Amino acid sequence: MIWDIWVRLGHWCIVLLVAFQLYSGENLDLREQHAWVGIAILSWVMFRIGWGIIGPTHARFSDFIAGPRAVIESLKRLIGKEHDPAVGHSAAGGAGILLLIGLLGLMGLTGLVSTDDVFYDAPLNHWVSGAVAGIATEIHGLAKPALLLIVLVHVLAVLWHQFALKERLVQAMFHGRGSAVDHSITPAMIRRGAYLMLASATLLLGSLLWWGQF
Ligand code: HEM
Ligand code: HEM
Repeated sequence: MIWDIWVRLGHWCIVLLVAFQLYSGENLDLREQHAWVGIAILSWVMFRIGWGIIGPTHARFSDFIAGPRAVIESLKRLIGKEHDPAVGHSAAGGAGILLLIGLLGLMGLTGLVSTDDVFYDAPLNHWVSGAVAGIATEIHGLAKPALLLIVLVHVLAVLWHQFALKERLVQAMFHGRGSAVDHSITPAMIRRGAYLMLASATLLLGSLLWWGQF
């Protein structure tokens, strides 16, 4: 086992929720649902940052954050159809994943203060001036093509691994098994993940109920 249940479940939930966000962001009738799903994604981002610090070995940022040189080396190997020696995310994959987590965090945060100026003001919109809300809404919209681009590169890279290098990455994101065993994935660690997820969601929802306008 290299991918614990929270990494795997989180990944496939995020895929579905992000697809819903891309659709509902444009749809005036789905503003409320868009906001709630956005809040769910933001609490996953909070969880994933925590899991990147206190989670199992291959979920940790220290396992896959690498400097620019390592990222370039990893990209060269990828293009040259060479297998990456990394057991978890490769250096290049890790860079893409950080971008995805960062962009989803940015979209979640800017979403909280944004407004469509007609039907819907997000829960923390009253916190900021009209000018700041305008800039946040602008950033929220501009992040969309960036997200689409990174998701596209991510999926193409995964497909390249899957078909050109014959590595079964997609299956591994379902069953969790890889070329090695991560002994830090224990029942106690999985419980820790559940508490972390509960804490992230409670912190975010509690703050929004306290400071927000629903
Ligand atoms: C909205 C679209 C997507 C987003 C936001 C996304 C995001 C992510 C993130 C954040 C990770 C890191 C997982 C973690 O460590 O917690 C990841 C890994 C991964 N994703 Fe996606 N993903 C998307 C779509 C897809 C799709 C459609 C596939 C299947 C073709 C896919 C296959 C994978 C695989 C195989 C990994 C593991 C890569 C590795 O072994 O290093 N993803 N993705
Ligand atoms: C974290 C994940 C999120 C994603 C991926 C996302 C994505 C999007 C997208 C693609 C649009 C359409 C932008 C455009 O075409 O100009 C949009 C619009 C919007 N989103 Fe989100 N969103 C997220 C979170 C949130 C949250 C948490 C809220 C509020 C609580 C929110 C509130 C809004 C509003 C009010 C608009 C309409 C803005 C306008 O009229 O220009 N979003 N979002």
